[in-house]
Amino acid sequence: MDAGPTTLRPRVVLGVCGGIAAYKAVEVCRRLVDAGVHVTPVLTDDAIRFVGEVTFSALASEPVQRSLWDESSPIPHTALGQGADLVVVVPATAHTIARYAAGLSDDLLTATLLATRAPVLVCPAMHTEMWEHPSVRDNLATLERRGVDIVPPESGRLAGGDSGEGRLADPGVIVDRVLERLGRAGRPDLLGARVVVSAGGTREALDPVRFITNRSSGKQGHAIAVAAARRGADVTLVTSSPLALPPDVATAVRRIDVESAADMEHAVGAAADGADVVVMAAAVADFRPKRPAGRKLSKEEGIPELVLEPTPDILAGLAARRPPGQLLVGFAAETPDALERGRRKLARKGVDLLVVNDVSAPGTGFDHDTNAVVILGADGSTTEVPLTSKDAVANAVLDRVIAHHNEKRSTT
Ligand code: CTP
Repeated sequence: MDAGPTTLRPRVVLGVCGGIAAYKAVEVCRRLVDAGVHVTPVLTDDAIRFVGEVTFSALASEPVQRSLWDESSPIPHTALGQGADLVVVVPATAHTIARYAAGLSDDLLTATLLATRAPVLVCPAMHTEMWEHPSVRDNLATLERRGVDIVPPESGRLAGGDSGEGRLADPGVIVDRVLERLGRAGRPDLLGARVVVSAGGTREALDPVRFITNRSSGKQGHAIAVAAARRGADVTLVTSSPLALPPDVATAVRRIDVESAADMEHAVGAAADGADVVVMAAAVADFRPKRPAGRKLSKEEGIPELVLEPTPDILAGLAARRPPGQLLVGFAAETPDALERGRRKLARKGVDLLVVNDVSAPGTGFDHDTNAVVILGADGSTTEVPLTSKDAVANAVLDRVIAHHNEKRSTT
């Protein structure tokens, strides 16, 4: 079930009509996707005369929809209308404005407009004479009276070399209005934030068929990546866990599968450049075989001597070279004296938040679906999260991330 706009990426239906300004809808589409919005383009038949369907399908979150009679869905207009957090029409022609005002539903776009209860933004674009025509004015007044938000056109160059009022509002203005309206409707609190999460226990090779690993399942790290994506973040998950992601976020999360600490260091390091938040939930091996064999070791050669060497401390490396404003979150799976050891680790690792996990407590830690943690802040804060689901722990960690970010911003 859709968990609603406060926890999932907001869904916007982008209606495109047949006018020369349709090419600017491409820019609106791209910018909304960049801002973390899920965009479904719905093009009228006339829009296709101006801009190729492929262009929108390539840039949007899903392929273009055009027909009321699509075989894959018996009632596409109600599905689109009910699922949308907002519908925006860019450009809206005099013809579509008239159809919408009259309650006509003779194509997928107008049917969707009638089937939705979400906010609707209409961005008209047409020649000055049409824009000033009383029928267009009356239709727009009708729509406004019904609660439709009109983004008025600007004055400027029009198709055919004319100049005057009627040019589509700037794509930046339209995108800002969409994001603003989504905010009023409950904009996700991590919208557009770039979040990197590591998860799972790394595997350190002894030979091509054997490795050393630990008991981490990756469940907690995956839960954080999923929760962040549902709260609108742009998520990269670097994982050594085979766990699958739930279908609603599987395509939204950039997943990089790794094996060893060295692979993880490489992938997290690259992803962390430009990230706003890095969460190191992975159980990175502290030691690895110094000289892994290039071929399978055989008993005939006797029992091999296991010589270990330390792995790189990925988190400490990130802390040493982090860009200004980047927030770092570490995890600490401890057994005795969890909190005391956690506080020391927070300072030693140079992180903003450390999620301390007493893995010896019942129902917590490795491979459970539940967890209990204490989130320590570099500002001295302590947030206890008693035994609950790993999803709830994930959201509690993200709540602290947002609170910490806001505190930092207000003090700088
Ligand atoms: N970590 C890391 N690289 C390592 C080891 C750990 O980035 N080579 C990260 C983990 O992902 C976690 C944090 O550091 O976020 C703490 O991991 P932990 O194993 O508890 O700490 P250690 O540095 O290994 O310290 P100790 O062994 O003394 O407990």
